[in-house]
Amino acid sequence: MNSKTPATPRLDAAKAAMIAKTRKCGEMTGDREAILFSGMRANMLMPHPIYIASGEGARVRDIDGNEYIDTCMGFGVCVLGHRQPDVSAAIKRVSDSGWHFGIHSEEQLPLARMLQDAIPCADRILFCNTGSEATSYAMRAARAFTGKDKIGIFNGYWHGMHDYCMVAPTPKPSRDRPVGEDISTGVPQAVHDLIVPLPYRNESALDIIRENADDLAMVVIEPVQHSNPQSDIADFLRAVQDVCRECKIVFMLDEMVTGFRIAYGGGQEYFGITPDMATLGKACGGGLPIGVIAGREDIMRMYLPPEGQQGVFTGGTFTGNPLSMAAGAAAVAYMADHPEIYAHMAAQGDRLAKGFNDYCTANNMPVHMGNVGSMFHIYFQSSPVASSFDIDEVSLADAHKAFALHALELGVLISGGNRYYISAAHDAETIDTMISVFQESLARVREDGLL
Ligand SMILES: Cc1ncc(COP(=O)(O)O)c(C=O)c1O
Repeated sequence: MNSKTPATPRLDAAKAAMIAKTRKCGEMTGDREAILFSGMRANMLMPHPIYIASGEGARVRDIDGNEYIDTCMGFGVCVLGHRQPDVSAAIKRVSDSGWHFGIHSEEQLPLARMLQDAIPCADRILFCNTGSEATSYAMRAARAFTGKDKIGIFNGYWHGMHDYCMVAPTPKPSRDRPVGEDISTGVPQAVHDLIVPLPYRNESALDIIRENADDLAMVVIEPVQHSNPQSDIADFLRAVQDVCRECKIVFMLDEMVTGFRIAYGGGQEYFGITPDMATLGKACGGGLPIGVIAGREDIMRMYLPPEGQQGVFTGGTFTGNPLSMAAGAAAVAYMADHPEIYAHMAAQGDRLAKGFNDYCTANNMPVHMGNVGSMFHIYFQSSPVASSFDIDEVSLADAHKAFALHALELGVLISGGNRYYISAAHDAETIDTMISVFQESLARVREDGLL
């Protein structure tokens, strides 16, 4: 240890304990990078990631046999918990008859019908395989519909990995007038000309939209940003929708996370807002890959124009594949039949955040948890956060990483991206355990002087 590095005995002990009990994970990592070039998730100060072998309800087990309460939940996908029996049965049923044919199967329409009923803006439905595909197809349709090219996106957004989502609004030189900055190399400079960066929860966004009215095809926003979950957003969403209507711009809600999570009808039901289009995925695939575009009849017509006219291209090898369709239909049917899961997730989510925040306040710790129902973010700062521009991920980064490692060692798995989810399978007892694990983790971080 460098003489200048402060001693962190609690952290060192937790790290040593984790390394000792995840030997197989360590061995599996081996020469991984000689073969597999993908980021290592959930490695929080560990020399290797945790490899998951199985999941059941609110819990997962790693290949060494350690069990954890899961807060990743398939990056928000598993709203019903892992291995939900109806979904599992649907997957088995389809896999017994062959699972990929390319052309239509009888599994598509039942899910499409349920989605049409559940999603307020869904005059029509279109399937694809991922959320990123969904947002890119929706942007293309908005361009075709309006005859305009630009897309407006807000800071703190996430809409997927295609080029139009790789230019993020930054507060330099002004929070009111953000400029776009690449979040990846390899993004064509031309993409910058097609993105209008907008400030989240900031009235200036409305002026910028008006100023770009002649060029903007679409403005897209998550009803709740999972990077910064705030529930008092309805007025802002409505104001953005109004200005889009006034300027003949397609207003889209990206409900990839919120759909079937914060309410059965997603953010549209939760906030009472019906956009022109919405994109979904995650929960409505029951744990298998899916993307959904839903929207107003006249815009959706762009995908299926009259005979002889060119439409907006969509399609892909795995689109509407029987396994995703059947798993999704089983999950959505369960959610429709059990509306009580939404009150449960909201109550348990609020209880978790209260247990966390009360402890931080009582102990004068500069940390707080934000949540909308079952989606969470932990802010390692005491200053309030309105938009992502207020988030400080640097000052207490060491404390945050140490917190995550302690939680892991105490049996709560954190995925590493500061996006936490609970599911319908996280019962009150599980939430109580999470509250004590988080409190104990914070206490250890403080003992080491990191907080
Ligand atoms: C709001 C939102 N939109 C789009 C996406 C992209 O979805 P996918 O990862 O399935 O491509 C995500 C993924 O997390 C998301 O959270």
